[in-house]
Amino acid sequence: MDNLGQLVDEAQAAFAAAGDGAALEQAKARFLGKNGLVTEQLKALGKLAPDEKRERGAAVNRAKAAIEAALDAHRERLREAALDAQLAAERLDVSLPGRGAMPGGLHPVSRTLERIERLLHSIGFAVADGPEIETDWHNFTALNVPPNHPARSMQDTFFLEGRNDVLLRTHTSPVQIRAMLAHAERHSALDVMPDLRIIAPGRVYRVDSDATHSPMFHQVEGLWVGERVSFADLKGIVGDFLRKFFETEELQVRFRPSFFPFTEPSAEIDVAFMSGALEGHWLEVAGCGMVHPNVLRSGNIDPERYTGFAFGFGPDRLAMLRYGVNDLRLFFEGDLRFLSQFR
Ligand code: FA5
Ligand code: MG
Repeated sequence: MDNLGQLVDEAQAAFAAAGDGAALEQAKARFLGKNGLVTEQLKALGKLAPDEKRERGAAVNRAKAAIEAALDAHRERLREAALDAQLAAERLDVSLPGRGAMPGGLHPVSRTLERIERLLHSIGFAVADGPEIETDWHNFTALNVPPNHPARSMQDTFFLEGRNDVLLRTHTSPVQIRAMLAHAERHSALDVMPDLRIIAPGRVYRVDSDATHSPMFHQVEGLWVGERVSFADLKGIVGDFLRKFFETEELQVRFRPSFFPFTEPSAEIDVAFMSGALEGHWLEVAGCGMVHPNVLRSGNIDPERYTGFAFGFGPDRLAMLRYGVNDLRLFFEGDLRFLSQFR
């Protein structure tokens, strides 16, 4: 009898020593397997007399049940230990500070464009639009720059591969043509055409790259065509606009005589601050002039009856001045350390 009590103790000890499922299964085989120690005891019953067999059989079965119960208990213990280990490994520290969402913001050039649109819209200019891939005719010929005209080399161009009639527009001036044609068409039944007053902000492209030139940059075209539009109107509007844009009266605005095939007379507009870090430095921010009669004709507008002025601002340059940035290309490199300063 004693050997059965010892067998149960040994099984308990073997199960307790098993560190994982595989070791436990091995220990189980040693006691409960086909040739295990408990099975041996059961087989041995056959050799006993009936009386002895009944008594011994009950004792062996009790031992077997005790060993099976011990096995179950240890299985459960291992399962719990494995779960604890997993929970510890996958533990979330809910007290860690969060990473936070980085607030986005508008690009400084977009903010500048919005500001220009808001200011010019408030004095009656509507926003017009044109394609960035433009026809040679709209970009040059209709603007009084015929094929082979030397002025074409002032705006070195990206043509589309295999085509010489479409290009990336070099300025927003082709929108003047599109706007005039649409306006003339819309009001063709009237005796007097109402004034056309638009701005056209957008991207333009040139073979250009230095601190104040980028191969992709922005322009804001302005156009006012009507019965009595003069250069004095142009000067007044541009001066007011620039002082509002920079929120200062301490601004010098200079109209420097220049040449554009699509305006006559023509000027470039330079600005300089009368105080602050940029005091005394002149920077060209726009080209402008009175719309050339040939350009009005391209837009189906009678140059004998109507006059107009046009300007083309470089808003990237305006953003440089407003934010005190000394290299234009910084705006377009996509470096968040630079851009996030404008949020
Ligand atoms: C023009 O593009 C004319 N279409 C402007 C115009 C419109 C004149 C209407 C008359 C009537 P210009 O090439 O000078 O002109 O460019 C106009 C402005 O764009 C410049 O004053 C400058 O502020 C800006 N600009 C020109 N090239 C670049 C460049 N590569 N990068 C950044 N800004 C530029
Ligand atoms: Mg210029």
